[in-house]
Amino acid sequence: MDAVLSVDQGTTNTKALLVDAGGTVLARGSAPVGVAFPRPGWVEQDAADIWRSVELAVRDCLAAAAGVTPAAVAVSNQRESVVAWDRGTGRPIGPVLGWQDARAADRCDELARAGLGGAVRRRTGLPLDPMFSAPKMAWLLGAAGPGGAGVALGTVDAWLVWRLTGGAVFACEAGNASRTLLFDLATLDWHDELLDAFGVPRAVLPEVRASDAGFGVTADLGFLPPALPVAAVLADSHAALYQHGCRLPGSGKSTYGTGSSVMAPVARLDDPPAGVATTLAWLTGRPTYAREGNIIASGAALAWMARTLDLPDATHLDKAAEAVDDTGGVHFVPAFSGLGAPYWDRSATGLLTGVTGGTERAHLALAALESVAHQVADVVEAIEASPGAAIEVLHADGAATASRRLMRIQADLLGRPVRVTDLPDASALGAATLARQALGLTASPVPAGSPGVEAAPAAAGTLVEPALAAGVRAARRAAWSGAVARSRV
Ligand code: G3P
Repeated sequence: MDAVLSVDQGTTNTKALLVDAGGTVLARGSAPVGVAFPRPGWVEQDAADIWRSVELAVRDCLAAAAGVTPAAVAVSNQRESVVAWDRGTGRPIGPVLGWQDARAADRCDELARAGLGGAVRRRTGLPLDPMFSAPKMAWLLGAAGPGGAGVALGTVDAWLVWRLTGGAVFACEAGNASRTLLFDLATLDWHDELLDAFGVPRAVLPEVRASDAGFGVTADLGFLPPALPVAAVLADSHAALYQHGCRLPGSGKSTYGTGSSVMAPVARLDDPPAGVATTLAWLTGRPTYAREGNIIASGAALAWMARTLDLPDATHLDKAAEAVDDTGGVHFVPAFSGLGAPYWDRSATGLLTGVTGGTERAHLALAALESVAHQVADVVEAIEASPGAAIEVLHADGAATASRRLMRIQADLLGRPVRVTDLPDASALGAATLARQALGLTASPVPAGSPGVEAAPAAAGTLVEPALAAGVRAARRAAWSGAVARSRV
């Protein structure tokens, strides 16, 4: 049987899925990954722990696979996080600096003062923010010693490919590269001036490959058959977009994880509107670009509120908010480490506004759910500021989509339908889909009039329709904007 083993390496856990040629999930496995917060603004992981979690998740999955062995491997992965290792010994050098890590904020400010922001945005489509890889890479190179001789520096996909192939392939996928601040979206290569500006030598970086180019074959790892092709790699958010079938402008998705990523394909590479980025969704023969806005705290905001209200976890917020129809004027702005898209203001502070003597737990629980939906609506509206970028239906995936209230609020605040996926593993499935296409295990017909664009699978899931009057929606959005403005003074 032509099954693909798809590994989705995320911030807090690694999943492995065995997916057959028709896209059916035959078996699943998962393993947690540790995250450390050694200082305010610092977020670290251990590269060896990440690799161990891959092994455990794969073992778990294959043990449940009833004798079916995979024919190929696909990878989707957390983006922007940076791994350094020694090419000779394979040992990690220093910690993995996670995507939420903001230790390089001062360096970004310095480069912005030196006038680099415009060039960075023009070349890479990204804002000069410490969430992206390059300033973290510079920090790790500094920690590795002068010159960093023998150092390999990469995004998480590069680390996994290197380990999967037993050190034979040192390559990263183009969509992952596009999240580093070093990758030129037009030439699809590392950009020499940016490498110089950030102090990252080309020699320490992986070769960049197309998403479906093939990333070598598995080494004899003991937990996977050797010589399996590593057929496709996609960044996790991009893989979800792929799986939702969002291949053309007019479609878009929001992933509700620790943070959120709202993405929508665009017709061509152009300057993004204020507050959102342009990114390479995937490179499959031709590049597909997308607008993206990253929200730093969404699931994290729900988890914080659940903890604060003494609830076992965020899944209990729906019940806690059940008694109220509105927040009673309360707004919660979860700017725990500033605000991401569309504000990109690291100095914003988290706050609760509108609290009165009559504020109850239910209002606070609802304000947390609303804070996620408002932030996503902020990004959708920013994406739609460029002509032809309207998102007709927003596809939703990620853990927090289990909250029916959140999904209803989301449709209401957007004033358009939200399609909630019934597939909990959109990223792993997206990478598996691309791997199957790369290997010719499924047909990927090209629809008429859309040269080079693969046919999308039929959209699945539950459609949630908006039900809020336009005037009420506008008033709620305006009140939220007021709270955001206060968090930024
Ligand atoms: O941009 C960061 C994102 O890729 C992290 O994804 O699934 O680990 O929250 P996740």
